[in-house]
This record gives sequence, structure tokens and C-alpha cells, in this order.
Amino acid sequence: MKNDSEQLKVRAEELRREINYHNYRYYVLDDPVISDAEYDRLVAELKNLENEYPWLDHPASPTKKVGAAPARAFSPRKHSLPMYSLENSFSLHEVRDFVHRVQKQIAHTDPTFWAEPKLDGLAVEVIYEQGIYTAASTRGDGYVGEDVTENVRTIRNLPLSLFHLDFLPRYLEVRGEVVIPKNEFVRLNDFKARKGEKVFANPRNAAAGSVRQLDPAITASRPLYFFAYGTGLVNFPEDLGWNTQEEIAGGLKELGLPVVQGGRICFDLGQIEACYQEQLKKREQSAFDIDGLVLKVNELNLQDLLGFTSRAPRWALALKFPALQGKTRLKDIQVQVGRTGVLTPVAILEPLSLGGVVVSRASLHNENEIRNKDLKIGDSVLVQRAGDVIPEVLRPFKQERTGTELDFVFPGDCPACGSQVARLNHEVALRCLNLSCPARLEQGLIYFVSKQGLDIEGLGRKWIRILVDKGLLRSPADIFRLSREDLLPLERMGEKLARNILDSIALARQNVTLPKLIAALGIRHVGAQTAKKLAEHFPDLDMLAAADEEALQRIEEVGPEVAGSIVKFFRNPENQKLLQELKKLGLWPVYRPRGRKDLPLQGKKTVFTGALKTLTREKARQRVEDLGGKVLSSITGNVDLVVVGENPGSKLARAQSLGVKTISEEDFLRLIEDSD
Ligand code: IVH
Repeated sequence: MKNDSEQLKVRAEELRREINYHNYRYYVLDDPVISDAEYDRLVAELKNLENEYPWLDHPASPTKKVGAAPARAFSPRKHSLPMYSLENSFSLHEVRDFVHRVQKQIAHTDPTFWAEPKLDGLAVEVIYEQGIYTAASTRGDGYVGEDVTENVRTIRNLPLSLFHLDFLPRYLEVRGEVVIPKNEFVRLNDFKARKGEKVFANPRNAAAGSVRQLDPAITASRPLYFFAYGTGLVNFPEDLGWNTQEEIAGGLKELGLPVVQGGRICFDLGQIEACYQEQLKKREQSAFDIDGLVLKVNELNLQDLLGFTSRAPRWALALKFPALQGKTRLKDIQVQVGRTGVLTPVAILEPLSLGGVVVSRASLHNENEIRNKDLKIGDSVLVQRAGDVIPEVLRPFKQERTGTELDFVFPGDCPACGSQVARLNHEVALRCLNLSCPARLEQGLIYFVSKQGLDIEGLGRKWIRILVDKGLLRSPADIFRLSREDLLPLERMGEKLARNILDSIALARQNVTLPKLIAALGIRHVGAQTAKKLAEHFPDLDMLAAADEEALQRIEEVGPEVAGSIVKFFRNPENQKLLQELKKLGLWPVYRPRGRKDLPLQGKKTVFTGALKTLTREKARQRVEDLGGKVLSSITGNVDLVVVGENPGSKLARAQSLGVKTISEEDFLRLIEDSD
């Protein structure tokens, strides 16, 4: 017995170590070495062990990310060292003054500056004792914060135990920002808007609101991330050699912590400016909201000499990006009909430029939002591009009202087809109930061809609208029947454009997979993730269409609402007809599980070099992943295969010198086709 329990304990520890390591590869190094399925298997095995033998359980187990019982209120938690704020600046002139001030105050020294993105989220302090996560608190007033230990524990990329290097930190306070990705913020707001709840104004509020939930299970359900940018009190048994910000960032990363990406040393104002310009350029593509650049004197001994004012360090400065907010006029509120028939009010704005993008429309989500914000047609309003992307009306300037502003009245009929609108099952949203409403058809098609669906490049919103108008598209199946002769007579359509569109359709048809097709159908509550799970259980659309709610709910992640929506979708005669048409067209993918050992690139690390003639890099990467492989960016001895395009450059020589197998683009295409 003793032996058995000893073995179980060893296995649980082994699994924890392995899972921690894979979390680190995935979240910190961004370079996973096993497939999602293999990872899921490890976690499932550990969860089973912990459930079956509760004495094996451990508070720092990587399975502890589900959320503890709700609290009544957060208790206060005092910081060992105050958590200061940052001095803000808005121009390079102010940065120059800051650099001069620093140089003057610590004359005869030679400070360098650590520059890194300023993430816009919620500041938290996370505490590890003997390498184990023990507590977390918000900044609060800088001296006393709120104890959010149970909530922060659920953050997916935060390790609950640190790597034991040669040493073990006895006590470590890590400071950083909790953030939510911009696209997840949009999804969360969509979800809230559909339920008629108040939406978050920006990703920062979404992150802060998610951490400050009394029920940690809600925090656990939100896609939060933590990135470290510094330390509070630290107590290591020996000198770690952390003498600079750069070494802190490197050291935290070595301990397994995710740190703010993109930090670098600047020697002078010119380099700081270059760094600022570079970050500004990356701002829009960044997955997270970045609102500026943080500059810190790099050397910790010089930081000590500079000290603090009452609210901020003298050794640091935030250089903020231009605000993405502005004032304009709300000219009108129009109602748009979505693919599920939901009527959404949209603000029509006097166009204004925010960060180089002209904004003229913004979703107002639902009737409640208009009422809550007290918006009237004709108001002057404050508009922001929340999360750098989505335009949002924040509030009216009520003091500027002249009395000519008009209240908005929600229409009783569908603005696109004139049919009756209604609220279903106590929903907040009003819906058009006409299944063949042209606006619903159009939105459904736009979704079908979008990135969330089959990703048909070149066939965007504009062309869909025209094709629906001309009666050329009456269902998604019609897309695959389009011909050159259909397209050429359209205004602004040329020979080349028509060819591109038809090529993209052909490519999408060739690359269609079951998860993609399920997602493209636009079933309510079924996004990419759920579509993948469904495909894993029902290998084609007939099987999925035949599944009842009970069978669907046996899948993890599929609750009654999702199951109900799937069944309803396939019961609809219009949708049944669509399935028949897709089948006739041969658009009938059968699910091939990823991670199967007989996939041709299973476990193979692949690198591309040179220009590819027939595929974009992104498509090529997708295909490699579909075939079980992984794409890396640089060549090491671990790489299994190098695909060589035109003008391959130095990677080819390196591959040859390491004896790594190389194949041409043509061979690669053959490999892909053979496995279709
Ligand atoms: S360093 C003594 N670095 O910005 C304060 N802060 O506006 C040292 N923030 O409360 C802070 N990204 O929460 C630092 N890379 C970064 C940051 C960052 C975001 C936040 C931080 C701070 C706030 C001040």
C-alpha cells in the first residue's frame, strides 16, 4: 500500500512538473513542444488523480485554475513596499527634460534606460513563498490593496509554482499588469450586450472588472493574462546578480514568469525615440492594449539614488501614446439586422479621425445602452476606439444640448424587410423573425466568408452585399456556384479581380475542414473552439445534425444553451436544405483528428525559407499544423524539415550545414495534396 501511494505521489509530482514546464513553453516562451491534445491528456490524468486521491491534492497544482468559492468582500492587504504610480508625459520634449533631470541629479554616473511597452490593465502584486504562489493584491491606494489571491490564482499564464533553479527564492513579490486580449474584450462585450448587461468601456475595465469579481469562478472564465514588469520585496538566499531592470526581466523569465515583451536598453534620447516610434507602429497589431512606453533608469543602484516623490519614482516615466478619443456629433441612430436577426442600434457619427483611422459608425449594442448612456440624436458625444480598434460612444456632452436633440425610438418592424420583430425567451435584444430577411442572409454570408468562417479572401462585405442585391447569392452554397460570367458584368469588377475571387473560393473549398465549416455556419453560441470540439465528436455534418441535446451535452464545454441552439439550427428546414446543397457540391469534410500519429508531419518541426509562390506564409503554417507539425522561425539541429522557396537566404545554408532535410515548395505542395 505504502508503495502504491508512494508511486501515485511520484506520478502526481511528475505530471505537475511536466504541465508547469509546458505552460512555460506555451505562455512564456511562446514555443510549445507538445500538441494541445497531449497537453490536455496530461492535465486530465492529473485531475483524475487529484479527484480520486484527495490527499495528493496541492494548492499550487496547475489544476487549481477553476476558481474557489465566492467571497463576500475583498479583505485589505498591506504592501510590504508601496506600489507607486508613474509620472506621465505626452511628448518627446518631456522625455528630454526627464533624461536631463536624471543626469543632473545623479551627475558623474552613466545611466541607461530600459524601455518597454506600457500595458493598459490592472496593476497587481503576486507573492511567491519558497517558489509557491501564496497571495496577490491589487494596487489600491499604493499602500493597501485588495486581497485578490483566489482570483489571480485562476489567471491562465500565471505559474502557481516557480522553477527551482540552483536556488529557490524564499520570498518574492512580483509586480505586473493583468490584461485581457483586445479580441477577447470584443467577444466579452458582445456576450454582455446580448444579455443586455452593461458593456465594458475598454479592455482595461474588462480586465479590472474580471479580477475584482467576488466569485473567482467568473474570473477563471475570463481570458486574463499577467505580465510582470518588476519586483517588490525580494528575499533570495544568495545574491542573484539582479542589478538592472534588464536582469530583473531576464531573471523573472528564468523563474518561469511571463514578463512584459519587447523591453530593451536605450543609451540616449535618439534610441528612446526610435523605440517609441517602433512601439507606436506595433500598437494596432498588438494582441493587448498598449497605451505608451515606460522608461526606467536601468541600473538599480541609480534608481536608489534617485528615489521617489510622494506618488511616483523619479527614475521612471510613462510616455503616453496619443489618445484615441475625440468629440463629434451623433447624427443619427440606425438599426442594423444581424445574421441571427438581432436588431442592433448603430451610431452614425460626423466622421472624425482617431489615431489615423476615420470613425463614422459605432455599435450602440442594444436599447438599454442608449438609455443608460442617455444618448439623443444630435448630441455632441465623446468617442473612443476601445482596445485601439472598436469605436465606442462613451457619453454625451449634456451641457451642450440646445433642445433640438431627439430621443431615439426603437422600430417595431424590421428595417430591412418590414416583418414583425419580437423578443425571444426574455432576451433583451429584438429580433426579426423572418428567416429569409435579406439583411439576415447578407450578414450570414459575410460571416460565412469571414476569418471566423471559411476565410475567403477577396470576397468581403462589399461584394457580398452586391451579389445578394443582384440575386446571385441566396445561400452560402451559391458562393461555390459563382462563375466568371456571373462576376464580370458587375460594376468595378475586372478580369483580374474576378479571377482572384474565384481562386480564393477554390482555395477555401480545397482547404475546408469540418471545424471551419461548422464555425462558418454561424450557429448561435458556436465559435471556433466549440466547433472544434463538436467536430471531434461528430465526424461529419450528418452526424452532428442527428445529435440530440443529450448527446451534445455530453461534450465538455457544451451546456444546455449551446446544445439547444445547435439542435434548433439543424431542425430548421432552410438549414437542412443548405446541408443537402453543400453535400451535392462535395463540400463535405470529414473530421481528421490532429495529433494522430499517421499524419505526415506529426510532431515534425518545420521551417520555411524564401518566398513561396502559391501559398501565403500563414496558409502554409496552417497546413503544417493541420498535418500535425509545427512551424518554427529559425533553424537549429532540432528542426526536421526545411521548405525552400525562392531566394532562400542564409537559412538554407544553415540547414544544409546541420544536415537538416530540405524540400522544395513543389514537394511540399505534393505532400499536402497527398494527405488530403
Ligand atoms: S513600471 C513604480 N512598467 O502603469 C511604478 N508599469 O500608470 C513602476 N504599467 O501602476 C511601474 N505597464 O500598473 C511599469 N511596463 C510597465 C507597465 C507599467 C503598465 C502600469 C502599472 C502602473 C501604471 C502607472
